[in-house]
Amino acid sequence: MGEPGTSVPQDTTGAARRDTIWYKARMPGTPTPDLVVRDEGPVRWIRFSRPERKNALTRAMYQAAADALAEAQQEGRIRAVVFTGEGGAFTSGNDLVDFAQDPPTSEDTPVFRFLLALVRAEKPVLAAVEGPAVGIGTTMLLHCDLVAAGSSARFHLPFVRLGLCPEGASSLLLPRQAGFARASKWLLLGEPFGAAEAAEAGIVTEVTEDGGAEAAARRMAEAVAELAPSAVRETKALLRAPMRERIEEVLRAEGARFLARLRSPEAKEAFAAFFARRKPDFSKFT
Ligand code: COA
Repeated sequence: MGEPGTSVPQDTTGAARRDTIWYKARMPGTPTPDLVVRDEGPVRWIRFSRPERKNALTRAMYQAAADALAEAQQEGRIRAVVFTGEGGAFTSGNDLVDFAQDPPTSEDTPVFRFLLALVRAEKPVLAAVEGPAVGIGTTMLLHCDLVAAGSSARFHLPFVRLGLCPEGASSLLLPRQAGFARASKWLLLGEPFGAAEAAEAGIVTEVTEDGGAEAAARRMAEAVAELAPSAVRETKALLRAPMRERIEEVLRAEGARFLARLRSPEAKEAFAAFFARRKPDFSKFT
């Protein structure tokens, strides 16, 4: 964390909150931190903090988030991790400028490390979702244990619309969790859906009033943090065990196809259309 490769703990809270430590991940060339990691007692908060881009995720953000999550597994005092976003958005997904200009070429990328860190997390991972949760912003929730969402939160898996294909093991987990009909509607048609539907589909644990997701996630994180820690870890491991190996296989298989699709003419047309604020024209493709 911090300047890539460093951790910069700062106690910004004085005597009132001695247990609060901030780690700030400032990415090269940006005036403010894009990812903020804050420990509140036993709970680590990882905040996507790039509101001018609806918290679109850059490589540096994936790397810092993967490090913060992996490090939390080693730190005895941390008992739960919560992902959240700044400025009324969870995340608009992968930064499309990154995708268009400098697409990843191998599995050994920060986004893949981030997904693996999520899949391998032994401690409970939570999310507080307000506003858009696009692409990986939705698929990462399939690996979270408890998710709170404001009632206007908007979930979207626009991979096909971008000439891409599912990632994050969503082609395996979404039909299993939400049923095949909904998974097809969301992945094949790329239709967005709301918090109530996400809760019905088992992706969201609790729907709150708008602006209430963080408080709900905090309540759940603090509740789980009070419980017997090894019993919690063992229960999570048992819940996830039946799918664990398969998830990593699918993550890799999807990743290989996704990387190839990023360089496809269909994806290039979709990215050009996004930046020109026009509808993509896929009519010329066979
Ligand atoms: N990558 C890069 N820039 C992004 C982005 C992304 N994923 N998502 C949004 N932005 C940029 C917009 O281009 C816009 O930039 P501008 O101010 O220079 O025009 C700015 O962030 C604000 O976004 P805007 O679209 O104006 O906000 P909105 O509230 O109308 O819509 C979204 C929010 C998230 C619904 C919409 O931005 C969107 O659909 N983004 C693309 C999501 C996506 O396809 N992600 C990839 C998934 S694989």
